[in-house]
Amino acid sequence: MDDQLDELMVCRLNQTRKTVEPCSIVIFGASGDLTARKLIPALYHLHKEKQLPSSYRVIGFARREKSDADWRTELRAALNQFSRTKPVDEQVWTEFAANVFYCQGEFSDSAAYGKLEQMLTSFGQPALRDNLLFYLATSPSQFGECVQQLHEARLLRKGEEGPGWQRLVVEKPFGHDLASARQLNAELTRYASERQVFRIDHYLGKETVQNILMFRFSNSIFERLWNRDSVDHVQITVSESLGVGQRGGYYEEAGALRDMVQNHLLQVMSLVAIEPPVSLDAEPIRDEKVKLLKSIRPLTPADVAKNVVRGQYFAGTVDGELRPGYRQEPKVKSDSNTETFVALKLFVDNWRWSGVPFYLRTGKYLPLSASEVRIQFRPTPNVLFAAQCGTKLDPNALTLRLQPEEGISLRFNGKVPGTSTSVRPVRMSFSYNSEFGAYTPEAYERLLLEAVAGDATLFIRSDEVEAAWSIADSIRQGWNGQALTNREFYSAGTWGPVASEDLLAQRGHVWRNPQANK
Ligand code: BG6
Repeated sequence: MDDQLDELMVCRLNQTRKTVEPCSIVIFGASGDLTARKLIPALYHLHKEKQLPSSYRVIGFARREKSDADWRTELRAALNQFSRTKPVDEQVWTEFAANVFYCQGEFSDSAAYGKLEQMLTSFGQPALRDNLLFYLATSPSQFGECVQQLHEARLLRKGEEGPGWQRLVVEKPFGHDLASARQLNAELTRYASERQVFRIDHYLGKETVQNILMFRFSNSIFERLWNRDSVDHVQITVSESLGVGQRGGYYEEAGALRDMVQNHLLQVMSLVAIEPPVSLDAEPIRDEKVKLLKSIRPLTPADVAKNVVRGQYFAGTVDGELRPGYRQEPKVKSDSNTETFVALKLFVDNWRWSGVPFYLRTGKYLPLSASEVRIQFRPTPNVLFAAQCGTKLDPNALTLRLQPEEGISLRFNGKVPGTSTSVRPVRMSFSYNSEFGAYTPEAYERLLLEAVAGDATLFIRSDEVEAAWSIADSIRQGWNGQALTNREFYSAGTWGPVASEDLLAQRGHVWRNPQANK
């Protein structure tokens, strides 16, 4: 009965959303891993769920010579491997594949863009020629070239003057520091306006990350506590039980700071900490995120030494199997100083959060893969139960579990039943799976759909990306290229170097590690 009432109470917010218009989606770098693992499975599922426009085409643009049929065969094999629903539905695949084409060409060859233009025209519908989503799944060094060629081939019009619309979707890494991000922004906005650029951070496509704003601003009881008066500190953990595997070449240049902190962790933190936006439209939300990122206290080299811990894994056991050290991974230098772990303490210098530490950490080859935000509330006054139990009286905590076993739990103290007077923490939990069933669309499904619909809320604006790079750059400057010290290594399968525990101990805090099977 209650369940039925809950269903009646569902409030649908995106009913006023623009209907998706017929369009063509062109993927640059179509032979890459991202296309096979994420983009094609996402598009296949969107087709399956009838979310794509009534008429659409997907065109893979890449250097290798192959026919449409060859590409479809490759994609079908990838789908068998990476689809979130299995087996692949034959009928859906056949319908979907009929919309998929391949255009061979070098990114720098203007004739190839002419060929692309002809292909788009040959589809015979103006919308499939003029409404264009260009997905740049290429190396950032090629963005500038692609965009210029698209402009010259009259496929991309700045400000969308003329018929239809054109959008650029760009993948991370968006630059490797502030200067290169600015340079990329300049290259992209030479031939497209900012509102045509959709910068991806796939964490924003995750259900639970989107739920942070909904949780905060559709409930009055928690938001009242969401400030320095009630919150003692915040912990954000994004841990992975995998190592860098075959991505050593990329990772050597990136490291955990650029790969995870500059984007995913700072995005999650900004959603946890922003002020209420004036509306749910893209710009007000992004304005608040920029304000928040700019309120993070800048880190001097002395702050970095005190408040940022980096680490690198050496050989150890994860999930019962011995794993190699980072320096033994393929394409990694044997004396590499690249960090595979970062823990840091940040302060937000605004009215709401002044003095509240935000602890962020991420790492490869940690004991399990889990992402969590923990809001740790202040302890009770030191009287009554606290006076007797001391630190054994656990302060209240609210945990937003972002993945896996998505959910929210509130920890408070309760009386242990019986004649003795004992108190211990108990938990009130909401689990996505038990409440809504195991439907978890991939982040890329949501993101692709939003880009097709032209809603930029879940994408990163240029000033946002630049504000996040300023923070990452100040940390890198603090490290100043110095070699890792012994204290900065951790065994694969542990929660990072000891220095990470010390970072919290400075204020009497401890990391609360995510648990498996919560
Ligand atoms: C990517 C990073 O952006 O995010 C990877 O490049 C990382 O190193 C991945 O493994 C984590 O994403 P998820 O969705 O698995 O948490």
